[in-house]
Amino acid sequence: MTQDEAKLLVAKRAMEFISDGMRVGLGTGTTATPFIYELGEAVKAGLRIEAIATSEGSAKLAKELGIPLTTFDDTPVLDVVVDGADEIAPGLALIKGGHGAHLREKIVASASKQFIVVADESKVVHKLGKFPLPVEVIQFALPLVTLRLDDLGLNPVLRPSPGGAGPWITDEGNVILDCHCGEIQDPEKTAKEIRNIVGVVEHGLFLGMANLALIAGESGVRELRVGNVLQGPGGTGTSELR
Ligand code: A5P
Repeated sequence: MTQDEAKLLVAKRAMEFISDGMRVGLGTGTTATPFIYELGEAVKAGLRIEAIATSEGSAKLAKELGIPLTTFDDTPVLDVVVDGADEIAPGLALIKGGHGAHLREKIVASASKQFIVVADESKVVHKLGKFPLPVEVIQFALPLVTLRLDDLGLNPVLRPSPGGAGPWITDEGNVILDCHCGEIQDPEKTAKEIRNIVGVVEHGLFLGMANLALIAGESGVRELRVGNVLQGPGGTGTSELR
């Protein structure tokens, strides 16, 4: 199965969790996007939902597909958000932000009754940290935050824009430091330390937020919940989730 096929498969499975009248958070990235297309098809076929997107890109796509968008003014509680992840570890601890949208993604997840992660097997890990941890930072504070993250041993690197000219600018006008920290032994502690730095807007550790992960692999889609057994990448090794 190609990665594109896996992403489509998991998007279709995620659609089984969507029903008429729901208020839906739309994720960002190459796994969340096929779900938005599937949702668009369902809306064309008569499904009535309202959505809030986690990025300008996903909002634009939703508009093009005719998915009705709402705001937190009118809809402060969402029923479900379907979003991707860069890494998924035991306890459904996540790293997100590979596409720089983790601030809005965390806001939308915090407003949602259910957070469904969609991914393929390549995202499942035993410990977070191989994927660089994104930290969104106020531009004015960039030199200071860089020093503080360095002090914590997190090896921050300013993310360049996709075109390579200048830094990556988020939808909120901030920049991103990608922390090449290696395995994160205590994600709660690391999250707290980063949060304590003045000038940090949000980091990409999503702890205790996801309820369910739908993981596409060769044998179909498997479900991971907090309390399930986590199958290691390549099918080797298992460990209890929490
Ligand atoms: C967006 O900022 C991210 O959190 C994405 O959800 C994450 O990077 C996964 O993206 P892909 O589905 O493209 O791998």
